[in-house]
Amino acid sequence: MELSTLFLGKMMHRLDETDSTNVWLAARLHENPVEGTVVLSDFQTAGKGQTGNTWLAEPGSNLTFSLLFRPRFLPPTAAFYLSKMVSVALHRTLTECLPDAEVHIKWPNDLLVNEHKIAGILIENQFSGKEIKNSIIGIGLNVNQREFPGGGYGRATSLRLESGKEWDRDALLERVLQHLEGAYLQLKSGKKEAIDRYYLQHLWAYQEVTTLRIQGKEQPGVVTGVDAAGRLAVQLGQKLVYFQMKEVEFCF
Ligand code: BTN
Repeated sequence: MELSTLFLGKMMHRLDETDSTNVWLAARLHENPVEGTVVLSDFQTAGKGQTGNTWLAEPGSNLTFSLLFRPRFLPPTAAFYLSKMVSVALHRTLTECLPDAEVHIKWPNDLLVNEHKIAGILIENQFSGKEIKNSIIGIGLNVNQREFPGGGYGRATSLRLESGKEWDRDALLERVLQHLEGAYLQLKSGKKEAIDRYYLQHLWAYQEVTTLRIQGKEQPGVVTGVDAAGRLAVQLGQKLVYFQMKEVEFCF
């Protein structure tokens, strides 16, 4: 299949099975793969999620893939822009696919459709001095899967469940890659404010009172933004508090 992108996915590895596409790509960095290389697998035996979790996906039903960017234009302190940019690209894709659905970005970079998780992102960067040398962007997008652990329509969803129809995974991949390439080039050309604006505009619970679980305790707070390091800013009563991943959870 000839993709309509400029560089993303021009080099594409299609695997039936691997442990994790992120691991597969990381193990080949010494071969100096071209920027924009994509590796897609129908099944992962040890798919990795954020904060050491596993990513489970039914074989042959979803999109589980990783791609390589070399964002040398970004200082390591701005690495969170990669998370934002990928979230924005997936959000754009999902709103195009599901125009009537509510699509949100849940900090730091989960995608929710009608309050259910539809996609997750795992970014693994390699730094060299003052540069981000390699960025492996791993994406798991639930496409045609109908049942999820925990039963049917639990905390997770898929395009199939939200739209009632089957999706052509190749056509969908092409749309995702187009949006990813567009958002990456937007970032590369310095349009950080546009990425910031889009991310905040679609951020779950932004400027709303929401219930958060902090150190095991549920309490109300207002999400006021995300700082340069990617920490979530929450107004808790009179105090503005910044949280890293795992320090705070949304209750919904
Ligand atoms: C999360 O929400 O916890 C992140 C999930 C990321 C899953 C994808 S699937 C393709 C790529 N390879 C992996 O091992 N993980 C990412």
